[in-house]
Amino acid sequence: MANVRFENITIKYGNHTVLSNFSLEVESGQIMCLVGPSGCGKTTLVRALLGLVKPETGTITVGDRCLFDAAKRVNVPAEKRNIGIVFQDYAVWPHMTVIENVSYPLKKQRRPKSEIRQRAMHVLEQVHMVDYINHLPGQLSGGQQQRVAIGRALVTNSDVVVLDEPITNLDAKLREEMLIEIRMIQQRLGATILYVTHDQHSALQLCDKMAIMRQDGSLSQYGTDEDIILRPADRFTFEFIGVSNFIPITRQGNELYLDCGELIPYPGLPADSEGKEMGVRLNDVVFDHDSPVKAKVISRVFLGSENSYFLKLGERDIRVQQSMLDARTLGTVEEGETIGLRFLNPHFYSKKEANPA
Ligand SMILES: Nc1ncnc2c1ncn2[C@@H]1O[C@H](COP(=O)(O)OP(=O)(O)OP(=O)(O)O)[C@@H](O)[C@H]1O
Ligand SMILES: [Mg+2]
Repeated sequence: MANVRFENITIKYGNHTVLSNFSLEVESGQIMCLVGPSGCGKTTLVRALLGLVKPETGTITVGDRCLFDAAKRVNVPAEKRNIGIVFQDYAVWPHMTVIENVSYPLKKQRRPKSEIRQRAMHVLEQVHMVDYINHLPGQLSGGQQQRVAIGRALVTNSDVVVLDEPITNLDAKLREEMLIEIRMIQQRLGATILYVTHDQHSALQLCDKMAIMRQDGSLSQYGTDEDIILRPADRFTFEFIGVSNFIPITRQGNELYLDCGELIPYPGLPADSEGKEMGVRLNDVVFDHDSPVKAKVISRVFLGSENSYFLKLGERDIRVQQSMLDARTLGTVEEGETIGLRFLNPHFYSKKEANPA
């Protein structure tokens, strides 16, 4: 078990700077999910950790081992870094059986045959694939293949395992199973895991800590999932993690109003919210017959564990997710009806600047 520290990492491809003085820690024995939009530099960071791309500045350490230090010219070769990796694209080798796949990293290290067999079988037990050792990947489900890939990443007792978008190819149910599987494997082995994804739902399910990257490769926030959901650092994180409504706030005379085509009074708006937008997540809009803020129900769709509503507040579209528990206690409303709204956990952000055309 070891932590991973990136400090002041700068990486360029030609004259395109992907990461600039980027710092981040993955704590020992934890799962850290690195989340960010496509192209922001997540895989680039992983490649730097593996020794496949060389930063211009900074240091990378695993436990007390320095893998890279630009200033001191330390650059441990990729094959000596002892990092397990599961990439999305080439999860397992199709021409090798399950046990051959998992044994391969040990064969490359020229371990004795008996040791290879014993360690491979041990890892296959951990990932629950002992019954399939002679199967080829083509004879396995997607989730089973990923388990083999994870087994292969773990077999050399890597200090750290990196999973870069390992399960995006899987359907929703298998994805769910795999996340639980990764969690359980991690708990059994106590491995340090860096899990890279642009899918916030997987990240929320899996992580001990989460890091959110902006499109420009900078870090927006690092914290627990609760920090990130309840106390988002900025509008980027708030919008990236979950879906929200945004309502502009306007002052007229001494009063602040929700600007919905018509001005709607909403008591309790903070004094400094003038000119900003109020962001509210879909599950933080609750129905309250006593609220003076009245919206009209355009549609209700039942989604199994929740109701999804489209409402009109003035001329503005409002979306609401109502859990079945709320539906039972507060009741549902139907198309054409009018309902009072309350906004829980509102966040106030400056308006987004319009993109120059
Ligand atoms: N070998 C390369 N040469 C030049 N540019 C590259 C190279 N690899 C990546 N890039 C560019 O660097 C940026 C970051 O790429 P990277 O693969 O790290 O993104 P990512 O965050 O992993 O995205 P995704 O979520 O789509 O996997 C992108 O703009 C990409 O086009
Ligand atoms: Mg990537």
